[in-house]
Amino acid sequence: MSAAVLETENLVKVYGRGESRFDALKGLTFEIRQGESVAIVGKSGSGKSTLMHLLALLDEPTAGVVAMNGRPVSQLKPAQVSELRNDTFGFVFQQFFLNASQTVLENVILPLKIAGVGTAERKRRGMEVLEQLDMADKAGNRATDLSGGQKQRACIARALINEPSVLFADEPTGNLDTATGEVVEDILFGLHRDRGITLVIVTHDDDLAARCQRRLLMQDGMIVADESGEAVRSAGASVGQTSREGSRRVGGHGKHAAPVVVDGPGLDEPGPDGPEAGPTAPGAATAGAAGQVENAGTTGEERA
Ligand SMILES: Nc1ncnc2c1ncn2[C@@H]1O[C@H](COP(=O)(O)OP(=O)(O)OP(=O)(O)O)[C@@H](O)[C@H]1O
Ligand SMILES: [Mg+2]
Repeated sequence: MSAAVLETENLVKVYGRGESRFDALKGLTFEIRQGESVAIVGKSGSGKSTLMHLLALLDEPTAGVVAMNGRPVSQLKPAQVSELRNDTFGFVFQQFFLNASQTVLENVILPLKIAGVGTAERKRRGMEVLEQLDMADKAGNRATDLSGGQKQRACIARALINEPSVLFADEPTGNLDTATGEVVEDILFGLHRDRGITLVIVTHDDDLAARCQRRLLMQDGMIVADESGEAVRSAGASVGQTSREGSRRVGGHGKHAAPVVVDGPGLDEPGPDGPEAGPTAPGAATAGAAGQVENAGTTGEERA
């Protein structure tokens, strides 16, 4: 059994105060183990993105603990948190757009620039990762001049450039057509299978959720089910359905059972491109899909 890479204890997030107070997370305790693939699912507004932002250290909880490799993050200095995030995490968030005025390569190597890696090495690694995603021929293109699927692959390339051990993806296939979405999925699960990368994916897509080894079902700021094992993979499958390894309903405060590791399928080859995946805007971090204000100042774009 692999070690817990991320742990939470009684995680609480409250937005606003007084009459506008909203309890977005109501005391979540769970852990994510190294090398797991975890889907966070649930209705719009249930707190998925909020939870993801806390796990990814992009935002701070109102109360409770997030621990990374056994160490509470609150014990770290802000600079250490930034460094940890830059070294350990990759992000594929729709709201963290590519910079439209830069080339694909420039976008992809931005995290290396922030990390202080030299120009030649940046370019070498940038081209290497673009190669892996079948995007090398687009390296010199403006980020705007890409199809939706290509933009998403560029975002994945940027997320991978630091060889993260944990990849966070918020609706990675949300704006893509089915075929392109499957290509992106295959890339993510290929990384999981081949490199042991930990995947934490927020999704409304039942099939994508089913492909993960574990599904956390959120409802009104609580985790109400923690399902391990390979789920039924059909168009009608929902997270509420019983998986092969069994599922259990849980309260918001309980410690969850260790996940059962089941190897999911995965392919590597990127395929054809899809339609537009939304705008590309310089200086990401604006309002997200749910209209919430995203955290500024913590993404590569802002720190550049
Ligand atoms: N900055 C904020 N200020 C006030 N309320 C917020 C803020 N961000 C999120 N919320 C509220 O917290 C709740 C959870 O939001 P969150 O973005 O986590 O939902 P979600 O599950 O990701 O939804 P979706 O599937 O629509 O993306 C929502 O009711 C939302 O309106
Ligand atoms: Mg969301």
